Amino acid sequence: MDLALRGGQPVREKPFPAWPDFGKDEEELLQEVLRSRTWGGYSPGVERFEASFARLHGARHAITCCNGTVALEVALRALDLECGDEVIVPPITFVATATAVMICHGVPVFADIDPKTLNLSPQAVEAAITPRTRAIIAVHFGGHPADLDALRAIALRRGLALIEDAAHAHGATWQGVPVGTFGSAGTFSFQAFKLATAGEGGIVITNSSTLAERVWSYCNCGRRKGGGWFEHFIVASNYRLTGFQAAILSAQLKRLPQQTTVRQRNVEYFREKLRGLDGLVLPENDPRVTNHPYYLLTLRYQPEAFSGVDRDLFLRALQAEGIPAQATYPYPLYRNPLFRKESLPPCGCGKWKSDQNYESLSLPESERVCKDGIWLDHYIFLGDRQDVDDVLTAIEKVRKHAGALLSLHEAARGSRS
Ligand SMILES: Cc1ncc(COP(=O)(O)O)c(C=O)c1O
Repeated sequence: MDLALRGGQPVREKPFPAWPDFGKDEEELLQEVLRSRTWGGYSPGVERFEASFARLHGARHAITCCNGTVALEVALRALDLECGDEVIVPPITFVATATAVMICHGVPVFADIDPKTLNLSPQAVEAAITPRTRAIIAVHFGGHPADLDALRAIALRRGLALIEDAAHAHGATWQGVPVGTFGSAGTFSFQAFKLATAGEGGIVITNSSTLAERVWSYCNCGRRKGGGWFEHFIVASNYRLTGFQAAILSAQLKRLPQQTTVRQRNVEYFREKLRGLDGLVLPENDPRVTNHPYYLLTLRYQPEAFSGVDRDLFLRALQAEGIPAQATYPYPLYRNPLFRKESLPPCGCGKWKSDQNYESLSLPESERVCKDGIWLDHYIFLGDRQDVDDVLTAIEKVRKHAGALLSLHEAARGSRS
């Protein structure tokens, strides 16, 4: 059978499981809020959801907000991040991890990743610390927890705050302990594609009552819990989650463990089969990861195993076969136009000038994964083995026709030049 890219029959025409997933629970809980006529952030369902999210993550406090970006921002504000304070972040993450720092007038400092997990390398973090460093934001990329033992030890030894950006890691555990409370605070996103979603939404978890009160106040117009409606103590905004979102999220949270089990089963099957195939490497999990929710799988592509077909052409062929695999970020975060000298926002207080030269940065492991990484999304693994087999069959089909694929590509290039 010829490649779909050359007019052949695709391996798969059926869609993968739809995301987001929902059922009767979401519908009933939404109706409950509707009928209650208490639709806003003070709907009792919001606190109920916060309590169940805190319980799932073994945290004393959970405070919802309108998205994962704001969750990072209020956590940093509650930690009193000051103008010019440096915060170490990875370059393989969504922009929010760094821009939340900049919104608080801090300076993101990029440290390279560990290629096996795509998470901050503790050695790189250590090397990036300066007298101005205040915090580390560890992203649990794709749902794989960062090395929390090492990062926590560094934070404690160097007197830094540790924030876990767990936007991808709902329910993940490290050595049996849920992520989010290894440092000062953990933040999560409930954006449309996340493992528990209300379309938008975010949450901060912490074991510190002081931090929890401050985060709550930053999300609630500067009020204090139990204080007056028109009594405001700090300059803050309204970042509340609505009752409707909390209703959906309560139902989503109930689905999470079962969905995680399905993804784990399918990913383990995929991993086993992939071991017998050349050219696509799925790094092993750190054995200290005791629950991996598999938000995103990152494979490393080796063109030599596919007759020299480059990653992007391989992906075009795979997508044509009905497999929605994607390239990783096009470049590490620091290469975004935002980090060019002329675009950097001025600091709020005017007392400092960042000496970061993002334009000259080139962190080798982060650069590498942007060139050879391939992402497979969580919903691909939410079905049955047949779905996984289709992915494997499509990979093998592209390999078998790699020579023909190259000629097609070269012919197309020739006709354009
Ligand atoms: C690692 C990471 N942090 C933070 C965020 C921000 O979350 P939100 O989109 O809810 O603002 C995202 C969103 O994709 C993310 O992937």
